[in-house]
Amino acid sequence: MAKKEKNNCIPRHVAIVMDGNGRWAKARFMPRLFGHKKGVESVRKVIKYCSDAGVECLTLFAFSSENWKRPEDEVSGLMSLFMGVLEKETVGMLRHNVRLQFIGDRSAFSAQLQAKIALVEQETAQCSGLKLIVAANYGGRWDILQAVRTMAGQVQCGELKPDELTEAHIGKALSTQELPEPDLFIRTGGEQRISNFLLWQLAYAELFFSEKLWPEFDEKCLQQAFDAYAGRERRFGMTGEQVKA
Ligand code: IPE
Ligand code: IPE
Ligand code: MG
Repeated sequence: MAKKEKNNCIPRHVAIVMDGNGRWAKARFMPRLFGHKKGVESVRKVIKYCSDAGVECLTLFAFSSENWKRPEDEVSGLMSLFMGVLEKETVGMLRHNVRLQFIGDRSAFSAQLQAKIALVEQETAQCSGLKLIVAANYGGRWDILQAVRTMAGQVQCGELKPDELTEAHIGKALSTQELPEPDLFIRTGGEQRISNFLLWQLAYAELFFSEKLWPEFDEKCLQQAFDAYAGRERRFGMTGEQVKA
């Protein structure tokens, strides 16, 4: 039963595409924003559960670089929701020792939201519990592009030679920097796609797709994902026999 040993059971890094808010609201004849607001409750549950279970990092996809294409009122509603959540939840994060960090191109947000993000990051910087990473205006391709730009700059100024570049250099130049790569990827809402989330970092993540819409996703659903993860054999290119030995 080696697979059931504690360390292997709980993923170190969980990454979630929180999908299905709009459909959840639509099914209730409510505006899409109602679903996004309800989704905040699932976010709270998942953070608490991961924190209690001893997960090291939790990365939540909150807004993709493609989500700007949505109707203007949905986008502005989401921006106000982010602002409100940051204002209300900082105290709880400090209480639960959660460190909040953002990844994504924050320069597209209002000056007020950028300032709030910087403040919450600073206020929780000393927290040593769960690392909560919120991907906002994030795209996996954007992340790879900004990493390439950083590295091209290092090459141009002679800090690095092109043939000295390694995968580790790329990993460090990505917005996730020193974080461990995700062990478990969860997507709710029934779609089975990555939608430009952590493209490089997900290379060896275990994938779990849930039919539940994000506002319905709770502790029980997350435990189901953890159970599925605990039953997987991660081979990283090796044979099953090699992994067992
Ligand atoms: C995910 O839910 C939240 C964001 C993308 C911000 P959706 O809004 O995509 O919900 P569906 O997929 O339309 O149901
Ligand atoms: C992915 O969901 C982005 C977030 C959950 C923030 P989408 O609903 O935007 O993805 P697609 O458009 O269905 O691929
Ligand atoms: Mg969606």
